[in-house]
Amino acid sequence: MSDWYTRLFPLICRLPAETAHRLALLALERGLVPAPIRGNDPILRVHAFGRDLPNPVGLAAGFDKNARVFARMPALGFGFAEIGGVTPLPQPGNPRPRLFRLVEDKALINRMGFNNDGLEVVARRLERHAGDGQFVAANLASNTASADPLQDFVTLTRRLAPLVELVVVDVSCPNTANGKMFLRRDPLNDLLTALKPVRGQTPMALKVSPDLTDAEKSDIAALALAHDIDGMVVANTTIARPPTLRSVHKDERGGLSGPPVKELSLRLLGEMYRATKGRLTMVGLGGIETGADAYAYIRAGATLVQLYTALVYQGPMLIPRIKAELAYLLRRDGFDDLAQAIGADHGAPAVAGQTA
Ligand SMILES: Cc1cc2nc3c(=O)[nH]c(=O)nc-3n(C[C@H](O)[C@H](O)[C@H](O)COP(=O)(O)O)c2cc1C
Repeated sequence: MSDWYTRLFPLICRLPAETAHRLALLALERGLVPAPIRGNDPILRVHAFGRDLPNPVGLAAGFDKNARVFARMPALGFGFAEIGGVTPLPQPGNPRPRLFRLVEDKALINRMGFNNDGLEVVARRLERHAGDGQFVAANLASNTASADPLQDFVTLTRRLAPLVELVVVDVSCPNTANGKMFLRRDPLNDLLTALKPVRGQTPMALKVSPDLTDAEKSDIAALALAHDIDGMVVANTTIARPPTLRSVHKDERGGLSGPPVKELSLRLLGEMYRATKGRLTMVGLGGIETGADAYAYIRAGATLVQLYTALVYQGPMLIPRIKAELAYLLRRDGFDDLAQAIGADHGAPAVAGQTA
């Protein structure tokens, strides 16, 4: 690796992780981040959630919580971007420090606690996105102190669904009590029932945790099918701490992301793909840092993939690298297009990418 980000990385690491993130957002906003020039290989084109995307690699939720830089993502090579998590009211999140680099593990632990500018500010920024042809997903979360989390999701969906291409309901945050309440069958059923009339024609996906029990997995899969949910985003950060972790920060409270979560998320994605019979469009993420990682998620059932943590360690040149490797692997294995590879590990025809 010899790009500018790699050379800057030791300096970046001297800053607290959250300060580095704020600077990255500022640099992106001001157009100061050099964009890779390589375009999109046609083999990476994919149809998902009713739209054609130039490639399946997206920016995961949490990086652009306030919808400040999503419009810069196509220039960096991303096929789509997810903004948020957004809560109805602005909130400061947890006290700092709340974001930790586990450098030896190429991982992060965060307990941000949904710091964000709130629904109205984010909605106004998204209004500018109308008609720009970009695929933007909005990640929704309830306020930490909310007395009625279900109503929070209704409010968010009503306002944001008309402004984005996909609504992602986060029922998986490890850092707030409300984030976990919809893991139980009856509350999730009530939530999905309440969201149906307000989501309109906008596709909706559920973002799930890699820490689900078997009972929670089958309940979520069954309810997603019963309520005609379009997709599943698999997965969020984990509260597990694999024994391989080496960093001094490994016991910080919060959600772990990056390569140490990959095995867990990849297995869950395959399980959810099978449990939902390939009828949902799966978005795979957790520890993706190479084209081979992205390919593994696609073969396990993902139509789209996303990443966050690897961007912190490798910078934006990572995106063209992942795309080039993925295109190479698809051709190597005899696929004419990406849709053919979706779910290939299950011996299944590529259904999800075609039907959504
Ligand atoms: C600092 C940080 C903040 C995040 N915030 C959110 C969030 O607000 N909503 C959400 O659904 N996921 C959030 N995530 C989780 C990521 O979207 C992703 O699911 C997870 O990091 C695994 O992907 P990765 O290994 O590529 O980072 C956050 C992750 C990080 C590192």
